[in-house]
Amino acid sequence: MRERNGQVMQSRLVVGNWKMNGALSSNAALLDRLVAGAGALPPDVGLVVCVPFPYLAQVRERLQGTSIAWGAQDASERAPGAFTGDVACGMVAEFGCRYVIVGHSERRQGHGETDALVAAKARAVLDAGMTPIVCVGETLAERDAALTETVVGRQIDEVIESMGRDVARIVVAYEPVWAIGTGRTATPEQAQAVHALLRSRLAEAGAAEVALLYGGSVKAANAAALFAMQDVDGGLVGGASLDAGEFLAIGRA
Ligand code: 13P
Repeated sequence: MRERNGQVMQSRLVVGNWKMNGALSSNAALLDRLVAGAGALPPDVGLVVCVPFPYLAQVRERLQGTSIAWGAQDASERAPGAFTGDVACGMVAEFGCRYVIVGHSERRQGHGETDALVAAKARAVLDAGMTPIVCVGETLAERDAALTETVVGRQIDEVIESMGRDVARIVVAYEPVWAIGTGRTATPEQAQAVHALLRSRLAEAGAAEVALLYGGSVKAANAAALFAMQDVDGGLVGGASLDAGEFLAIGRA
């Protein structure tokens, strides 16, 4: 348990983003190990795995009734219809997803997702009864040009404006693009500085208690220092979430 502004914060969230990784057999082994180890985690730590769509049924089957929650890595902002290749929020909700990642930098960069589209997806996820994990973060060029606050501020403001009071029901993940999959982690102080900016924008919107996750080369060795920061409420973990030992150690941190 930790305190912020005199209030006890109930929970920490450690979310694994498997990205486009997995196979039925290796997933089964990974999930077995996670289930076996999750009981030893502190009770205020929530563990979540966000998996590729085809594995949602497998994950539901293995994780239902356990303390580990699951989610998807994206979903369409649209209602079902003629949208070949897309997956509606209601479909992933049917598979028991509690969370959906939206606006990951790999989708902003590789699929041209705009701030407005990310906000629309966050709304659709909420409307389907799930929690959007909205990713924000600057590129290395933007950081070098001292544009971190401008970029991250713009990304979060779009979500705040479009969601109104419901912004209190989302989770936000700060993932500096230069730290994703590079082995180069933001220092705890760099992460805290951006999290403080996000916290103040959200507080102005009446949503000071939104969980703020840090993501970008989080591993067991650096998680404790990152999670010790005042405004870091947990992590969004890529590569290290594919290793049960590492992921559980991050949960213990
Ligand atoms: P890595 O932990 O592999 O750097 O990935 C971070 C990430 O993008 C999680 O969404």
